Amino acid sequence: MALPQGPRAPSALQMLQWVTTPFSFMRSCHRKYGDHFTIRLNPRFGPLVFFSHPEALQVILTNDDAELFESPGSFNVALELLTGTQSVFAFSGERHRRARQLLMPPFHGERMRSYGELIRDITEQVMNEYQPGQAFPARKPMQTISLRVILRAVFGLVDGSRYRQLENHLGTLLDGVSNPISASLLFVPSMRQDLGPHSPWGRFIRNRQRIDKLIYEEIADRRKNRDDLNDGQRNDILTLLMSARDEAGEGLSDVELRDELMTLLIAGHETTATALTWALYWIHRLPGVRERLLQELESVDHNSDPSVVFKLPYLNAVCSETLRIYPVALLTFARVTRSRVTLTGVTLEPGTTVTGCIYLAHRRKEVFPDPEEFRPDRFLERHYSPYEFLPFGGGVRRCLGMAFAQFEMRLALSTILSRFDLALTDAHNVRQQRRGLVSGPSPFKMVRTGRARLPNDVERLAKEQVSQ
Ligand code: HEM
Repeated sequence: MALPQGPRAPSALQMLQWVTTPFSFMRSCHRKYGDHFTIRLNPRFGPLVFFSHPEALQVILTNDDAELFESPGSFNVALELLTGTQSVFAFSGERHRRARQLLMPPFHGERMRSYGELIRDITEQVMNEYQPGQAFPARKPMQTISLRVILRAVFGLVDGSRYRQLENHLGTLLDGVSNPISASLLFVPSMRQDLGPHSPWGRFIRNRQRIDKLIYEEIADRRKNRDDLNDGQRNDILTLLMSARDEAGEGLSDVELRDELMTLLIAGHETTATALTWALYWIHRLPGVRERLLQELESVDHNSDPSVVFKLPYLNAVCSETLRIYPVALLTFARVTRSRVTLTGVTLEPGTTVTGCIYLAHRRKEVFPDPEEFRPDRFLERHYSPYEFLPFGGGVRRCLGMAFAQFEMRLALSTILSRFDLALTDAHNVRQQRRGLVSGPSPFKMVRTGRARLPNDVERLAKEQVSQ
């Protein structure tokens, strides 16, 4: 089958480059072969064609469950190791559509907004755990915030031993798969050897077992206390999934529940934590950006309705630019051609696997002039199509948590900026690096330099004191 050109190195070498230096690998392929190229990572899965031109992305993402393309599930073996086979990631066609319908509502509209106060409270709580003058790795509090938010939203777990154990084990599991050596476990089957509890794979599977045990215990407890499920008091996703029934009146099995919960935890935790860490970096790296954000935040009462903060234009632009310049997800999931398709001049035969390269799409000079520059204003100056700016992918597999992640980013950042003064301590050589299945900043530290209050907060407190 004729495919676009691409590197000729053996697939093992291409895999090594993809795992260890994905950014220079993609840039060099783009320089040599242009807007579409073929890479070969694993003979078992065949070649993968990368596209980054908005026209090609539009065709792929508007036809990805139609005549031209399918969006197969279970393509990503690496993800399956974490989320199992009964996950929305693994489904295709009608089953995929049903799973999305079931999972979508809590991440949108009223239900999503009901998490606003919670996100602010958790952010404030976590940041208060750091004392003024104490340097800390910037990623740490962002991970804690995103994990606590997701545990609360997904499981409705607030505190207690099971919550703490889950927080602990999930943190370890995700940290484990985020460093490049352990990440190779996910990509290279021959690395998956259980050589005892201290070997990388041994540690991974034992940790996964501990998490599964906790999730199954939580499911069993909820099944025992069915009344709680029906009293309408709980708004977490586990409650919702447990009450869902298909046309035959069947509910989800324990394994189905486990896999979907794990999917949301894996998909929602590391991605959001990484985006928040990058945002903190840019905001504190560029004093002008921080200044403008503070001015914008001063214009609203910090305790106002979260949806007011959600709509602040400059905050929105900073979050978008954060996700543009170094996108957390480098690629969309794979799509496969169903029939012969011609995309930006290249003809693909049925059965060709393609992916949208978010990383390269966000670096196109004609769309984003000076793409290496962090310039939020570009998002105020013009509107980008969903095929030019696509940090959450698109089409039938577009990120299910997109609105939730954007909501959480804006609320967490506005809370941090208006309540805490932070500074970078050692951020001179921060660069983008692979973190397991996603990409993020190399480690850097921050310090709390004191407690900041916005003038309108000070005014409000003064008024409250006078009226008391
Ligand atoms: C900044 C944070 C996030 C980023 C950058 C991100 C990015 C992405 C991307 C690129 C995809 C693939 C889309 C495609 O193939 O077209 C995806 C899929 C997905 N994301 Fe996110 N995501 C984020 C946060 C979240 C959150 C908070 C959740 C849920 C709690 C979530 C749940 C999912 C799920 C379930 C899928 C699979 C959808 C499907 O297969 O139908 N993500 N995400």
